[in-house]
Amino acid sequence: MDAQDGGSVPTNWWTTGRLAIIGFAGVLMVLAAILVINASSTDTIIAAGEGINVLEGSTNECVECHASTTPGIVEQYGVSTMALANVGCEDCHEVAADYPGALEHEGTHILGSPSAAMCSDCHPAEVRQFNASRHALPAYVAMVGAGALNPEHLEMYESIPEGGFNPDRERNSLYHLEGPAITRFACEGCHNVGAPAADGSVGECQACHLRHEFSLEQVRKPETCNHCHIGPDHPQFEIYQESPHGISYATGGDDWNWDVESGRATAVDFPAPTCALCHLSGFGSMGTTHDVGDRLTWFLFAPVSEPRPDANSNRVRMQTVCLECHNGTFVDEFYADADAATLAVNDWVLESREIVKPLQDAGLMTPEPFDEPIDFEFFNLWHHWGRTAKFGAWMQGPDYTQWHGAYEVLHSLAELREMVDDKLKEAGLEPAGG
Ligand code: HEC
Ligand code: HEC
Ligand code: HEC
Ligand code: HEC
Ligand code: HEC
Ligand code: HEC
Ligand code: HEC
Ligand code: HEC
Repeated sequence: MDAQDGGSVPTNWWTTGRLAIIGFAGVLMVLAAILVINASSTDTIIAAGEGINVLEGSTNECVECHASTTPGIVEQYGVSTMALANVGCEDCHEVAADYPGALEHEGTHILGSPSAAMCSDCHPAEVRQFNASRHALPAYVAMVGAGALNPEHLEMYESIPEGGFNPDRERNSLYHLEGPAITRFACEGCHNVGAPAADGSVGECQACHLRHEFSLEQVRKPETCNHCHIGPDHPQFEIYQESPHGISYATGGDDWNWDVESGRATAVDFPAPTCALCHLSGFGSMGTTHDVGDRLTWFLFAPVSEPRPDANSNRVRMQTVCLECHNGTFVDEFYADADAATLAVNDWVLESREIVKPLQDAGLMTPEPFDEPIDFEFFNLWHHWGRTAKFGAWMQGPDYTQWHGAYEVLHSLAELREMVDDKLKEAGLEPAGG
């Protein structure tokens, strides 16, 4: 367990009542310190099963006062496994007076919003994996551009093997076009998952681990990912809902073993996968990772998809998850077919570039992004419809591959041809005749 890697043993006992709970768990009390470590998994069962608030009656300063100022937070944190493992408010919030972003508070100093640096004291592996993923700096760069990073973060960004891939910077222009009054509630609501903090650490763990519950059940459910992975350009949630996996979840999920210890889940606990299970969770012989790119073969979000640097080993890792429930031939055939669908969409996007090229060559498209209808059509073709077709194929959503995907691509190709011919004619040039 990572929490013990640093060797720090929690010492701030919430209450003496806690001892009774642990005693009830039947753990031998030889040394209090050893007990905290060993009792944690037994305690998990008590907390998860009975929702006992271990902070009730606590004499801890932060808790006593916050039980009346922010009772919801104390209630939520009180039933978490971390509270049970004796991790205190101070462990995440309290910092030295000169710590970047420190606020003076009730005779000490705190962070209002603890950074990933606070988690990394006890969860170094999760933080390392997260930092190596596109949920970290790449997500932030996708929004603001690499130019916004300081030299230290730029170096970190460039060292992420699958991070630097950013073939199309036109999308960043929307961030500037729309302006901060909008983007504060738009792009930032999703892309700040990888924003740097004042102390230099990266990312918002609380984007998935919603405030103070730190519940495995909550974070394993697809609704957690739905906050961001939704909408016309990346409808992964909608696709999942119409897939056999999503149907199993919607109809049978109430009975799944959501609180199973991390790294121990099998098909007995989960008869069908959620987003987390395929992309992140330990499952069967696959270990848990916070690098969500670790099992991906293609850069699917790109206009024209290319294989990832570690495509082959990534593919084996994802297939290891599939193979817990499907047989080898099924998985191989599925992958071969989905590869072919990916290449077919690539061809359409390349075709759209050919269609627009005469206009670009003749200087008949303005250099400004998103200032004429053809810019939107050209963009939607791959950014909405092409990507949706690919995601639908890979995650078993036929309606998205078809009617929200391929069909819309064909429609956009026809629109583009007509728009280009009209503009050429208007300028007194030969239409391309597509
Ligand atoms: C005597 C009461 C009291 C004590 C003790 C206390 N707090 Fe607070 N805390 C408050 C109040 C009241 C607020 C809301 C302040 C406001 O709205 O400006 C607050 C706000 C906070 C915030 C939000 C700060 C922000 O600006 O976002 C955090 C985090 C916090 N407290 C953590 C702690 C921690 C950790 C401890 C223990 C080290 C602690 N508090 C001890 C009363 C207390
Ligand atoms: C495991 C780390 C962790 C622990 C332990 C923790 N917090 Fe927090 N806390 C956070 C994070 C992360 C945020 C930022 C959430 C956000 O801004 O969305 C936060 C935000 C807050 C806020 C400000 C948000 C608001 O809505 O007002 C308060 C107040 C707060 N915590 C109080 C507490 C108290 C009291 C305890 C102990 C009972 C505690 N926290 C224990 C991680 C922790
Ligand atoms: C002082 C050490 C410490 C800090 C700081 C800390 N954790 Fe933990 N965390 C633990 C321990 C110990 C456990 C194990 C609890 C158990 O399994 O009984 C744990 C468990 C967890 C779990 C799994 C919960 C479960 O039900 O198995 C999550 C998720 C988690 N921590 C997230 C975070 C995040 C996010 C932060 C930073 C905002 C953070 N932790 C900060 C010590 C810490
Ligand atoms: C609803 C959440 C959400 C909003 C709002 C959002 N994005 Fe995204 N964005 C995502 C997700 C999720 C992906 C990943 C899609 C994938 O990998 O399949 C993504 C992908 C991207 C990418 C491609 C990945 C890369 O690193 O090149 C860019 C660029 C991007 N977004 C920029 C923006 C900009 C700029 C805005 C605002 C104008 C914005 N996004 C608004 C969720 C969002
Ligand atoms: C994209 C969503 C997401 C983000 C962001 C995220 N996590 Fe998690 N985390 C998960 C999921 C899903 C699980 C459950 C994995 C499983 O099924 O065992 C998890 C489990 C954990 C656990 C307990 C299991 C373990 O690995 O031991 C810890 C600790 C944890 N996360 C810490 C963090 C920290 C620290 C951060 C920020 C650096 C973070 N998480 C950011 C989704 C996320
Ligand atoms: C707060 C918003 C947010 C949440 C919540 C979120 N993601 Fe993401 N995710 C993003 C963004 C933004 C990107 C695009 C990053 C980039 O490529 O620039 C992304 C990218 C990804 C990718 C592609 C990574 C790559 O290497 O291309 C996967 C897979 C993924 N997320 C899975 C998940 C899963 C599973 C969950 C839920 C457990 C989840 N995400 C929750 C915002 C989010
Ligand atoms: C059955 C397993 C499975 C489930 C369930 C699943 N995915 Fe996927 N996902 C995949 C596969 C396979 C790919 C394509 C991987 C590749 O590139 O080889 C993929 C691709 C993605 C991508 C695109 C990454 C890129 O390159 O642009 C994102 C983002 C993503 N999934 C998020 C999610 C989210 C969010 C959910 C839940 C709503 C989800 N996935 C459910 C298996 C799954
Ligand atoms: C935890 C078990 C589990 C895992 C892991 C899993 N699946 Fe499934 N899958 C199912 C179930 C259950 C169904 C529903 C149909 C059935 O009973 O065969 C299904 C159905 C499918 C179907 C549709 C079959 C049809 O007849 O329409 C495809 C395709 C598929 N899965 C692909 C995958 C891929 C690819 C992976 C890995 C990325 C994967 N699955 C991982 C359990 C799983």
